Amino acid sequence: MRLDPDAFTGDAFPAGFLWGAATSAHQTEGNNTNNDWWQREHAPDTRIAEPSGDACDSYHRYREDITLLADLGFNTYRFSIEWSRIEPENGFVARAEIDHYRRMIATCHEHGLTPFVTLHHFTLPRWAAALGGWANPDAPDLFARYTETVLPILADGVEWACTINEPNMIAYPIGADFLSAEPDPHIAAQLVRAHQRSRAILTAADIKSGWSVATQAYQAEPGCERIAHEHGYPREDYFLEAAAGDDYVGVQAYTRTIIGPDGPRPVPHGAETTLTGWEYYPDAAAIGVRNAWKLTGHTPVIVTENGIATADDTRRIDYTRAALTALHDTLTDGIDLRGYVHWSALDNYEWGSYLPTFGLIAVDHHDFTRTPRPSAHWLGQTAKSNSLQTPDPAKH
Ligand code: BGC
Repeated sequence: MRLDPDAFTGDAFPAGFLWGAATSAHQTEGNNTNNDWWQREHAPDTRIAEPSGDACDSYHRYREDITLLADLGFNTYRFSIEWSRIEPENGFVARAEIDHYRRMIATCHEHGLTPFVTLHHFTLPRWAAALGGWANPDAPDLFARYTETVLPILADGVEWACTINEPNMIAYPIGADFLSAEPDPHIAAQLVRAHQRSRAILTAADIKSGWSVATQAYQAEPGCERIAHEHGYPREDYFLEAAAGDDYVGVQAYTRTIIGPDGPRPVPHGAETTLTGWEYYPDAAAIGVRNAWKLTGHTPVIVTENGIATADDTRRIDYTRAALTALHDTLTDGIDLRGYVHWSALDNYEWGSYLPTFGLIAVDHHDFTRTPRPSAHWLGQTAKSNSLQTPDPAKH
């Protein structure tokens, strides 16, 4: 479907646009002791700087998170279900944990938030990792069985599901340097199979599903177009093409990657960088959306993650405002963009460290106090009015 660009004018977004913020289970719940990440964090030879520990204690405080997001003006909350809680041993289901996520979904509804549920966000149960993780020939079957296990709570009021978060990142060997390493085509193909198996189950229950790809906004230096294509195809385009015909494709964008004759270039000299060392580049989201729209043959797109790790909340507003301005242009160009979900709702565990703060809401990791930042109020206001708001300097 193509949107009628006359249906929204000026800074307005289409009716029904999803405005959300995202988290993932391992990054916020705390004490996910039964997954492969926790295991790696505590391995005697670990290279992980800091373990996840209590994270944001969202396992107990999810009601506070959901209430805050609703009060700020958002209409969507993207979070993930932790497979290692649902299935702590191979084939053994923890019914009380299923109920936990049922309550989370119900709490979203109580507060008028659309739950956007991810089934796999980087963590595997320890037993599944011990069987070879995604390289295990049975992995697509195991993922399908897990999808069936959680289906009853999804079928009860979840409209949007994401099967696998950033499959293109999962396809790299663990601990790889993303700029130089090669993704594993066998794992990539396994992930596509797992996605398709899971989607068939979700579709039969009338749940809209897709997966979310980490888009890198590859930009070729003059004469390096072929190199950029050869670099980008197995790392991004392959996964976008696999989303053709899904209910939506998720775009997760933070920065760009310039490709020169020898492949990815370092961040340009003098460019502003964020707390993750990435170049400040707000156009990344719109570039990702345009690429996803083209490569999927016009599958509806949702920005399922976009944000910035910064200690300066004013820059978070600037970045997000610029990203949304470029995204609005994709709408006026006729792209069927259905929503914008900011990463992240909370300052959370950034896969090895608590230092890069992505949160709209600041979290004190000792007493778990949540404090919405000015960016949270501004983006919530934008969500509520369904149009891009000019930040009020008096308030921010
Ligand atoms: C992931 C998040 C992560 C974020 C920022 C995405 O790759 O889905 O889990 O925290 O980027 O690095």
